[in-house]
Amino acid sequence: MALSGAVLFGFVMTHMIGNLKLYQGPEAMNAYARFLREMGTPLFSHESLLWIARVTLLTSVFAHIVTAIQLAKGNRQARPIDYKKTQYVASSYAARTMVWSGPILAAFVIYHIMHLTTGWVHPSFNPDDVYQNLVRGFQVWYVSAFYIVAMLGLGYHMIHGVWSLLQSLGLNNTRYDALIRRFAVAVTAAVVVGNISFPVSVMLGMVK
Ligand code: HEM
Repeated sequence: MALSGAVLFGFVMTHMIGNLKLYQGPEAMNAYARFLREMGTPLFSHESLLWIARVTLLTSVFAHIVTAIQLAKGNRQARPIDYKKTQYVASSYAARTMVWSGPILAAFVIYHIMHLTTGWVHPSFNPDDVYQNLVRGFQVWYVSAFYIVAMLGLGYHMIHGVWSLLQSLGLNNTRYDALIRRFAVAVTAAVVVGNISFPVSVMLGMVK
């Protein structure tokens, strides 16, 4: 779970940083999109490194879901009879929300690929103009609203996820506990605020 989570964390962080190119205008954004398809050429053929990244991501998502189900099963077996009164001691609000934030994110990613990668659910999709796809896409208020809600789900998921990841890596020393929590909050805030800024700046007409 930690290993696949680390790969997915690395992806969302670099994806958000890459998408900041939106603020540099259409040329910069579209050049970045072209770079993703051309990276590794001429040594590797067109899109081959992109496909390696896609397969790695998909494998990580699959491993993450399978280990999440195993973890949930293990938890239930450890305590098959429900407590009469539930009083959480060590588990945080975010830890308990993994159960719903995970499926929301999975639904978001499926929709997001059909929206901005294949264009199946985008009314004016142009495969050669990622910048316009983003602007036209986020000009639809309910699309922007969905992205914002999904990013809040991502935030809940990441705070607990990053914290658990560092615990699994052996940083579960109470001396570093406060530092680890602060780090989890800081990286999550960077990803969530960065991602939410894209639909918000289009809706406000700052990016057009
Ligand atoms: C508001 C936030 C986001 C924006 C503006 C955004 C933007 C984009 C764009 C423009 C593409 C298409 C890139 C291209 O065709 O060159 C894309 C692809 C993708 N995004 Fe996002 N994204 C956001 C959030 C996320 C999040 C949070 C995730 C994962 C949890 C994610 C996962 C993906 C995946 C898996 C692809 C497909 C990559 C591929 O196969 O080519 N995105 N995104």
